[in-house]
Amino acid sequence: CSIRRYKFNVMKKKIRRLCSSKEIVTINGEFPGPTIYATEDDTLLIHVVNHVNYNITIHWHGIKQFRTGWADGPAYITQCPIQPGQSYVYNFTVSGQRGTLLWHAHILWLRATLHGAIVILPNLPLPYPKPYKKEEEEEVLIILSEWWKSDVEDVINEALIYGTPPNVSDAHTINGLPGPRPGCVEAGGLNIAVKPGRTYLLRIINAALNEELFFKIGGHKLRVVEVDATYVKPFETDTIFIAPGQTTNALLTTHLSTGRYLISVSPFMDSTIDVDNTTATATLNYAGTLTSSPTILTDPPPRNATSIAAKFTNSLRSLNSLKYPCNVPLLVDHSLLFTISIGLNICPTCTNGFRVAADINNVSFIMPKVSLLNAHFFNIGGIFTDDFPGNPTISYDYTGTQPTNLGTMTGTRLYRVEYDSTVQIVLQGTRMIAAENHPMHLHGFNFFAVGKGLGNFDPNKDPNRFNLVDPVERNTITVPSGGWVAIRFRANNPGIWFLHCHLEVHTSWGLKMAFVVDNGKGPNQSLLPPPIDLPKC
Ligand code: C2O
Repeated sequence: CSIRRYKFNVMKKKIRRLCSSKEIVTINGEFPGPTIYATEDDTLLIHVVNHVNYNITIHWHGIKQFRTGWADGPAYITQCPIQPGQSYVYNFTVSGQRGTLLWHAHILWLRATLHGAIVILPNLPLPYPKPYKKEEEEEVLIILSEWWKSDVEDVINEALIYGTPPNVSDAHTINGLPGPRPGCVEAGGLNIAVKPGRTYLLRIINAALNEELFFKIGGHKLRVVEVDATYVKPFETDTIFIAPGQTTNALLTTHLSTGRYLISVSPFMDSTIDVDNTTATATLNYAGTLTSSPTILTDPPPRNATSIAAKFTNSLRSLNSLKYPCNVPLLVDHSLLFTISIGLNICPTCTNGFRVAADINNVSFIMPKVSLLNAHFFNIGGIFTDDFPGNPTISYDYTGTQPTNLGTMTGTRLYRVEYDSTVQIVLQGTRMIAAENHPMHLHGFNFFAVGKGLGNFDPNKDPNRFNLVDPVERNTITVPSGGWVAIRFRANNPGIWFLHCHLEVHTSWGLKMAFVVDNGKGPNQSLLPPPIDLPKC
């Protein structure tokens, strides 16, 4: 293992998309941002220098940050932001992880343009899932995102002030490009050049703020081998379903001929909620294809293709091989039920007298003004409480009629667990306003998705159907509209770990909470002290 150093200069850059120009916040002037390469067990030193007039933090999404919560990145959870003119070195080791992840800003809505890939190569010699050659050879990075014509900070501020749903993006993008659009001929799309009869590893990342997406390549099947940097039992599909924060590695075996094929990226939304309905396109171009040969098209799934999304997620199983066994906890110390809701709170100054408030177990999370991890490490009182309810405070038919009192509680309330205890959370979707999918992300751990169902979770029956053999292991999971998922993890990483919806609009409305994991008593079981350059609030 070695040390890899990166320099991230946060700077503004004028970028042209959809026939107009706009200044955006970038890393080193790149959009999407630079790729971080590492080999399993490497130490990364990423020096972030803030040259813009926003506070900045960067999160290494899916990196477990064992004992190094100070480098995790969510603003006011594990660190104070890097202020304009300041810098911070994120210092962490990538241990026991390999595959594709992503990094992104974790403050305001800056993730819209501040995001990029993390590629962790396995320790050699490992032939799985395909022989790794040199970095980038026969590998294709595909970062899905959005383009907003307006300033995203204005979009969310309006949504928070008026208490209404925000505007949606103007285009989806593939490696920053929307592809040709009616009315804007200059908008080029990404061209992926391939050779016949080869196998490519596609590393697909959804970095979008607010949309779950479908990814398809005309005339080709994809063999899924990994999600969220964990290996899965390979399966074939023509559509990949991917939520914000998730990553999917798939093998693409090219045909023994020439040709040009359309790649499509389109939204998934199975309720009437407004989404960006545009389809981003790119092309897969075989070497030797004549410029005059036609493009083989692909039909994007309809936006409400719940069955396609469900079929994809139901196909995911841990590889569970001798080399990569599935370590799902069989016994549970903390059994929690979290309702995931979008509700309404009274707001005399809002247009309708109400504002949208999102919550977990009826608690809409209030961001603290200082870092929770700091308060935890130095035992500073009055910043948070550890009385987050482990079960709903009001019980009702979660997926049935909504209760009349929609008001939520507010607070910076955390749930405390002992080191190495095992936690099961049933994430129960509700229809307080409308049933909707929620991609829930846990920092600091991977979890195992042991169960899933529609309607209300039944504690007497549903656990009997849990998969405790080869459940998929990941860091972000979609709670289906009007249904639930059950996840388990072992709390063997001391620190403060954020759990939130990875749809940025829902997080902004309060759909978040955090766990406190206490230090263990043994050696190497406690949170390390903060680095000296840790930003101050
Ligand atoms: Cu990718 Cu807390 O986020």
